[in-house]
Amino acid sequence: MSIALKTPEEIALMRIAGRLAGEVLDYIEPFVKPGVTTAALDKLCHDYMVDVQDCVPAPLNYAPPGYAPYPKSICASTNHQVCHGVPNDRALKKGDIVNLDITTIKDGWHGDTSRMFIVGREASILAKRLVAITHECLWVGIAQVRPGAHLGDVGAAIQRHAEKHGFSVVREFCGHGIGLRFHEEPQVLHYGKPGTGPLLEPGMVFTIEPMINAGKAAISELPDGWTIVTKDRSLSAQFEHTIAVTETGHEVLTLSAGAPPKPDFID
Ligand code: MF3
Ligand code: CO
Ligand code: CO
Repeated sequence: MSIALKTPEEIALMRIAGRLAGEVLDYIEPFVKPGVTTAALDKLCHDYMVDVQDCVPAPLNYAPPGYAPYPKSICASTNHQVCHGVPNDRALKKGDIVNLDITTIKDGWHGDTSRMFIVGREASILAKRLVAITHECLWVGIAQVRPGAHLGDVGAAIQRHAEKHGFSVVREFCGHGIGLRFHEEPQVLHYGKPGTGPLLEPGMVFTIEPMINAGKAAISELPDGWTIVTKDRSLSAQFEHTIAVTETGHEVLTLSAGAPPKPDFID
């Protein structure tokens, strides 16, 4: 088992898929308001990807071994939902936090990115702090990515930052290599020890997508077979980017005009 290296030409195509995924999040942002359902957000994103961007929404009918085909085009995970929340007909309300996770396929190449949204732009102090720290966790992970670093450096930096702030890191789901396939090697753990795991090389492309809980790390799966929630029903947050390892460091492939800026303390 090995980690495929992408050529510069392939990374150029992934840059397009990645930017388009980010632009779906930019597009949907003004619709994420009290009263909207996640099913309505799914439909808007689906139509934007298909009709405007000429992309394929990767989640729709995605069926990894042991899973029923995913029924929607985006994931929408609210409050204590950790990831893979299936859009539904419940209305969002002021103070909810929701992760929207978009994966586009353009010319066969995948781009995968997610952001948190604070519904009504107002939430509890805890919810806002969890969202801010989780975004920082994504970026402290990204900051580790360069040739010669180990993949474990990414997880270690994320775990350290989350736990320093009294939060916990979900263990069961991780980032992943990405390319012509949605999920490929390597697994990118969001916890671990520096200096462990594969050495990073230019041409590797993978996601970093920490899921950070306000309470304990344990999760459970809902009967729909997809939606993951915190076992203690504490709040959970996640941000995701797709990253390429370059000769000198890294390139974030899923940046777009509306992406939240990297935190000031990151170089
Ligand atoms: N986008 C998710 C990830 O970051 C995967 C979602 S799989 C789905 O890896 F089937 F739920 F869409
Ligand atoms: Co992903
Ligand atoms: Co994703």
